[in-house]
Amino acid sequence: MNETNYITCQLTAVNEEATAAIARSLAHMCHSGDTLLLEGDVGMGKTTFARSFISEISSEKTDITSPTFTLLQTYPLIDGGTLWHFDLYRLKHREELVEIGLHEALENGITLIEWPQLAMSELPDSALEITLLPGLTHDQRIFSLSGMAPVWKERLGVLKETMDA
Ligand SMILES: Nc1ncnc2c1ncn2[C@@H]1O[C@H](COP(=O)(O)OP(=O)(O)O)[C@@H](O)[C@H]1O
Ligand SMILES: [Mg+2]
Repeated sequence: MNETNYITCQLTAVNEEATAAIARSLAHMCHSGDTLLLEGDVGMGKTTFARSFISEISSEKTDITSPTFTLLQTYPLIDGGTLWHFDLYRLKHREELVEIGLHEALENGITLIEWPQLAMSELPDSALEITLLPGLTHDQRIFSLSGMAPVWKERLGVLKETMDA
């Protein structure tokens, strides 16, 4: 991996609404073929982030539930594509990834993956890695975003400007 070709950016979300704002902003920047990896401990806000991201660009106003047990939920997007929301926490074997449709997802849509560790070897280099870390207060989260510069530099620049404004 060539580190110099990667861009990283940190954002502070003071509360849940700030996390939602980051998610909504990123949602509008993403298109088919983009993969976002959501990392961080239980309760850091991965699903909360996914819920705001999805509801912003989904064409169906349905409840967005955590795919904790189903491993995958899909949603139709306003632009006609599909959003794939995976939670791989309960995945037992890497071989199950084919069955649950990971490769199809990566080829045809926007893919959000909570707990992506077990799938790392199957994921594109162009994926944006989003790590949620605890902040100084109960409701504060630190977002650390990292992705390949050619794909993410401009988008992360705009995101940082928007969120710092
Ligand atoms: N800044 C924040 N961002 C996201 N969630 C927050 C924040 N502050 C408090 N929370 C709370 O933390 C919890 C996050 O839960 P969840 O999104 O299910 O986490 P995860 O999917 O990472 O396990 C929710 O209860 C949410 O209300
Ligand atoms: Mg979750």
